[in-house]
Amino acid sequence: MVQTLFNSQDCERLDINQVQQLYRQYVNPGQVELLGSFGFGRELVIKAQGCLLETDQGHTVLDFTGGMGMLNHGHNHPRIIAARRLYQQHLRMEVHKNYLSPHLAALSHNIACLLPDDLNICYFPNSGAEAVEGAIKMAYKYHQGQRQQVLHADISYHGKLLGAASISGSSELHFRFPEIPGAHAFVYDQLSSVEHHIKQLRKEDGSSDIYALIIEPMSASTLKRCSGDYLRALRQLCDHEDIVLVFDEVFSGWCKSGELFYFMQHKVTPDILITSKSLGGGKSSLSGFVAREKIFHQAYGNLNDALLHSTSYNGYGEECATALEAVNIVVDDHYSKLAKSIDLQLGDGLKALQQKYPKLVREVRGQGALQGILLHSGSGLLQSITQQLPIRLLKDEKFIAKLITAAVINHLYEHHRVLTYHVENREILLMAAPPLVVSSDEIDQFLQALDQTLREGFARLCLKFVKSKLFTSFMQRVQKENTA
Ligand SMILES: Cc1ncc(COP(=O)(O)O)c(C=O)c1O
Repeated sequence: MVQTLFNSQDCERLDINQVQQLYRQYVNPGQVELLGSFGFGRELVIKAQGCLLETDQGHTVLDFTGGMGMLNHGHNHPRIIAARRLYQQHLRMEVHKNYLSPHLAALSHNIACLLPDDLNICYFPNSGAEAVEGAIKMAYKYHQGQRQQVLHADISYHGKLLGAASISGSSELHFRFPEIPGAHAFVYDQLSSVEHHIKQLRKEDGSSDIYALIIEPMSASTLKRCSGDYLRALRQLCDHEDIVLVFDEVFSGWCKSGELFYFMQHKVTPDILITSKSLGGGKSSLSGFVAREKIFHQAYGNLNDALLHSTSYNGYGEECATALEAVNIVVDDHYSKLAKSIDLQLGDGLKALQQKYPKLVREVRGQGALQGILLHSGSGLLQSITQQLPIRLLKDEKFIAKLITAAVINHLYEHHRVLTYHVENREILLMAAPPLVVSSDEIDQFLQALDQTLREGFARLCLKFVKSKLFTSFMQRVQKENTA
């Protein structure tokens, strides 16, 4: 029997239990469990504006996640909504396979104007991983299939599609799927490691077999940053060997780290730049890769190859109109300045907390509106608590760090209605990465909440977390990870 289908008014009326049930049945039961283990996924957001969320349980939540890179403009920026409305009111065309799009043309122009040198030729797929794969493919084609090796950093995160994942070294990607051939990892920010690979990966005639080197100049999952000297040396090596240098600024772009893009701070131009996340202004799923003219023309610059790389949804009309507005807001509202003042207030505030709680906060790392806190995980009391846990868990050297970070995130949310997240790539970092439109008062509110949370001490925080029913699902999750 065919079940009654929901319409969009029904969606407005679904409560959290119904939504959870639908996720369990039709989306991904593990996702519900995973969110639950951090204390989330138990209420629905009914309104999102700037840095604030309103939930169906009557809570106002300060969203300090910045949508994990997507919300430099905050939720529902009024100019972005207006641009989308305008596009709709005029019944503009979304899909223009047989026509050229003025919005796509203008967006490409604007991005090219803002980027240095001849980083001028743009392509707009939808996800970051698609843009990564498009860039790598272009580098391969630039060498006309004559080179077979690609270098990436050991800590890199470039996405979860098969190709992007095979050039990712993040410990988050714990299952090995089939990989693109010829991928080699070098040590991040260590020149000798790149030099070693370049030396090893030569063809019989002595020429390089490497078609591309991809790197995040600022790694969003570890908050490590490449020095200017290192980036310059990479540029030199790649020039010398004719290796296509690709920078992935999917996360760090559009002023998240301070400058428009992190690499611009060091004045080292890549051959291809990958962007995404806040390019869509928090409303559209648009990514992009921008190539230097020479790279594009040698790869696809002839009639035969002009359509060798395309995706159905690239350059969708309203998405481009949205991105155009998003980029203009970044410029008009001086997002670079905003990020730098966030860096001062938030970065300094976190460092002050590190000084206040030296036994709890090991390190504060980051730049602009992309800051992270590494918590100490060597407390004696906690060690004794965890000795009560199943043997298998104790083998996970990150178990205590995971437990402490989860307990802090949970306390921030339950007691202060502040939303944060963590990243897990070698180390566990608690992230403070608000939208660039965050106010000074909101930063203070976050710092006070973190101060009051740390004041509790890890033992109390963890005991509370352990006592709460969240712990059961957290343990199940860690156990599953350990058996995987
Ligand atoms: C630096 C970086 N590159 C690529 C990606 C992949 O983007 P997506 O998740 O849209 O595929 C991400 C996602 O977080 C990222 O941070």
